[in-house]
Amino acid sequence: MAKVIAFSNNKGGVLKTSLSVNLAGVLSKAGKHVLIVDLDSQGNSYTTFGKDPDDIEWTIYDLLTNNPKLNNPHDAVLNLAENLDIIVANDDMSYFEIEVLLAKDTYDDIFALFKDSIESFKEEYDYIIVDTPPALGLIAANVFIAVDEVVIPFQPEPYAFRSLVKTVTAVNNFKDKNPDLKVKSVIPVKYRHTVMHRAFIDSAKAFAKTQHIKFSDIVIKESIKYAETTLRENVPVTLLEEVPETLKPYAEVYQELAKELEYIG
Ligand SMILES: Nc1ncnc2c1ncn2[C@@H]1O[C@H](COP(=O)(O)OP(=O)(O)OP(=O)(O)O)[C@@H](O)[C@H]1O
Ligand SMILES: [Mg+2]
Repeated sequence: MAKVIAFSNNKGGVLKTSLSVNLAGVLSKAGKHVLIVDLDSQGNSYTTFGKDPDDIEWTIYDLLTNNPKLNNPHDAVLNLAENLDIIVANDDMSYFEIEVLLAKDTYDDIFALFKDSIESFKEEYDYIIVDTPPALGLIAANVFIAVDEVVIPFQPEPYAFRSLVKTVTAVNNFKDKNPDLKVKSVIPVKYRHTVMHRAFIDSAKAFAKTQHIKFSDIVIKESIKYAETTLRENVPVTLLEEVPETLKPYAEVYQELAKELEYIG
């Protein structure tokens, strides 16, 4: 049965998508069978691969809303690389919350839509990696009910501490509905070696300790190279066939992270 992992933080631009696709890259290359599920209307998991999610007919939206025209849920699965599949999100997801809330009487449980959507995929995959939008609404509620683990990227900047606390609190609020749910780790991202970043990391670390949450020893440093390479190559750095010497540290950090998170040996 797949382990289901969400990358979550209600702050935007903190590498939820970058972590999702790069760890998916590491795991699939290590021989694990991986499904990425995007829940963000921006569809960035798929755009990372140079593709346009708005061209795709069946998406997570159709699974979540039980679109009767989608006969087989597997028709929503696209292959990206060996061992690596994706269910994309696109602009349809922008309307998800309003549409579901307006028609809520037609659903058994509007918080269990995502859990039900991925159930039939769990037997086929080792890991289901869930990329989430920067918000704590109905989509996040669906995520926290469906997943085993939440990984929270933390950017050491003003206001980010607030988002970290909010995300952890939101996860805690769902533990009665999903007793096994846990925050697997908080990962510092876009780190610069400055006094300010150090101070923000220290306070986040202290907060994580009070919550008995692991604070990662691995740091994703800020660098323009990640974005540049992904744009140029149309593939996450961990899936490059040959990683140039100058980019090796950028791929290796995700390898180390996959080990620290205990997803590979
Ligand atoms: N190490 C890095 N340093 C700086 N920028 C990076 C790094 N890695 C990735 N980026 C870039 O930072 C931007 C934001 O990253 P990403 O899209 O993964 O964040 P996100 O949390 O998914 O954002 P959103 O909340 O909008 O979904 C992207 O342009 C990405 O290419
Ligand atoms: Mg994203």
